[in-house]
Amino acid sequence: MTKMRVGIVGCGNIASELCRAVCGGGIAAEIVTLHDCDAQRAEGLRERFKLNAEVVTLEAAVAGADFVVESAVAAAVPDVVRLSAKHRRNCLVMSVSGLMLNLEVLEDARDANIIVRMPSGAICGLDGIRAAMQAGVDEVTLTTRKPPRGLAGAPYLVERGITLDGLTEPHVVFEGSALDAVRAFPANVNVAAALSLAGIGPERTTVRVIADPAATTNSHEIHARGAFGELTAITANRPSPDNPRSSWLASLSAVYELKMEALAWAAAQHAAAHARRTE
Ligand SMILES: NC(=O)c1ccc[n+]([C@@H]2O[C@H](COP(=O)([O-])OP(=O)(O)OC[C@H]3O[C@@H](n4cnc5c(N)ncnc54)[C@H](O)[C@@H]3O)[C@@H](O)[C@H]2O)c1
Repeated sequence: MTKMRVGIVGCGNIASELCRAVCGGGIAAEIVTLHDCDAQRAEGLRERFKLNAEVVTLEAAVAGADFVVESAVAAAVPDVVRLSAKHRRNCLVMSVSGLMLNLEVLEDARDANIIVRMPSGAICGLDGIRAAMQAGVDEVTLTTRKPPRGLAGAPYLVERGITLDGLTEPHVVFEGSALDAVRAFPANVNVAAALSLAGIGPERTTVRVIADPAATTNSHEIHARGAFGELTAITANRPSPDNPRSSWLASLSAVYELKMEALAWAAAQHAAAHARRTE
């Protein structure tokens, strides 16, 4: 069976989880190209998982694969999507905030007829939000609850001189739009961005960030109300085995998206072969 050829842009934590899944044999795919702004990271990934992959430029990584995974940084997203459109490759964008802040690149994708996959990332409930949108949603709120040390260094707190040391009770440190939350708490950007894009947009989605000294996980609670009724979805995340600062569920959502794309790709190959035989 032919395997879907994958190119990875950004060879860090999420890329490692993808390599583990592909090398474990659970996905009909092979990783053939790697790109990272730090070539040593790409070389390191290739060595660690004994990949038969080339470390190449961004454009070569896209051109040399059937499917492209962006697992780098928000700023890399416009180029990855534009090059995927240019070379007619479907792609997965993990840095969803990069899409939220550059929505115009989706026009290129539409014109090229490629699919840009967006993962559910570190939250659940996006399926319900997307379905609910078909009849209209009035209100979406995301409440993120973290131990105070998990918020340390966030620009919003640093700029205002807010210290969370010695907190004994949960404290709401931010409430505002998803657009403002992205600037204030860059570490939460992808969750807020994914929820906004699935639902009523970055300006109308409300984000609340709570520092909770009793919290033992990073949790995200979504509440939405609309013509369909109401939904509440709660995720309590364990850290990723490769990176304690990242939620494991986010990496697992990348694995799931890759698996779904490989299945769709295999089905398309099968249909094309069938069409050729019956010509
Ligand atoms: N959708 C979600 O819920 C979710 C959750 C976690 C992380 N993410 C995002 O996914 C991305 C990857 O996360 P990670 O935990 O694997 O990060 P990581 O820091 O472990 O790895 C990122 C890698 O990308 C490389 N890189 C940085 N800028 C680059 C560029 N312009 N071009 C090419 N390579 C570049 C870095 O050198 C590094 O090797 C980040 O943007 C992160 O915010 C999304």
